[in-house]
Amino acid sequence: MLLKQKNIPNHVAIIMDGNGRWANKKDLPRHKGHEEGLLVLSKIINVIYKAEIKHLTVFAFSSENWKRPREEVKSLLALFENALVKNFQFLIDKKIKFKMLGSLSRFPKSLLLKVKELENKTKNFKHFNFYLAAGYGSKDEIVNAANALSKEGKTITEKSLRNAFFIPKLPDVDLMIRTGGEKRLSNFLLWQSAYAELYFLDALWPDFKTRHFQAALNFYSSKERKFGKVSKN
Ligand code: IPE
Ligand code: IPE
Ligand code: MG
Repeated sequence: MLLKQKNIPNHVAIIMDGNGRWANKKDLPRHKGHEEGLLVLSKIINVIYKAEIKHLTVFAFSSENWKRPREEVKSLLALFENALVKNFQFLIDKKIKFKMLGSLSRFPKSLLLKVKELENKTKNFKHFNFYLAAGYGSKDEIVNAANALSKEGKTITEKSLRNAFFIPKLPDVDLMIRTGGEKRLSNFLLWQSAYAELYFLDALWPDFKTRHFQAALNFYSSKERKFGKVSKN
C-alpha cells in the first residue's frame, strides 16, 4: 500500500534496468530476468494506477537494444507478444489507455497487429495512460520529427516538433526513475525530461517493490520545481 501523497507527479517514466544482472546473480539465463521483470511490471502498473497517477511510460526496449545477441532479441519479442495477449483483456477491463512509442518497422507483423488492436480498443479511456516505449530512442524521435516537418516545409518550433513526435500528447515527465544503479538516461525521453526530477536506485528491476516506488514519490514530493524561476520560499 502506498501512503497518500500531497504532490503526485502527473507523468512517471521508468527505465526498467537490471534484468540481466538479476538473472546472472541467480545463475539463470538472461531471459529469465526479463520474465521476472515483466511480472514486476504488472504489479507496479497496479500500484501506480491506484496512486492516481495519470501517465506512466516504461522503457522496455531501446533503439540500441536491437544490437543485442539475436537470441536475446528473439526472446524479448516473444515475451512482449505473450504479455500483450495475456494482459489484453485486463487493460480493457481496467479502462487503461495503452499506446506504444518507438520505431515500429523492425517488429513482427503479428505483434504490431495486436498493438494496434489494443490501442484502438483503449483509445477513448482517459483515466490512466500506459505508454510502452519499445524500439524507442529519443534521438530517433527528434530526427524523425524534424525530417517530417522539413518535408512538409514547416517551421521547426518547440510546438511543431512535439506534434511530430511518436505521441504528440505525451506530457513532460515529472518523475524519472531508473533501477539497476546506472545514472544515465540511455536515449529515453530526452526532450520530455528536460525538467524531470531524476531518481536513481541500485535495486535491479526484478527486485523493485512498492516501497521503492514509495521512496521515489517521497523524493519527488520533497523537491521544489522551479523551472528556471526564483524560489518561492
Ligand atoms: C533491462 O535490463 C531490460 C532491457 C534492456 C530489455 P537489461 O537487460 O539491460 O539488464 P542488465 O542491465 O544487463 O542487468
Ligand atoms: C536501457 O537499458 C533500456 C531499457 C531499460 C529498456 P540498457 O541496459 O539498454 O542501457 P545501457 O546500455 O546500460 O545504457
Ligand atoms: Mg541494462
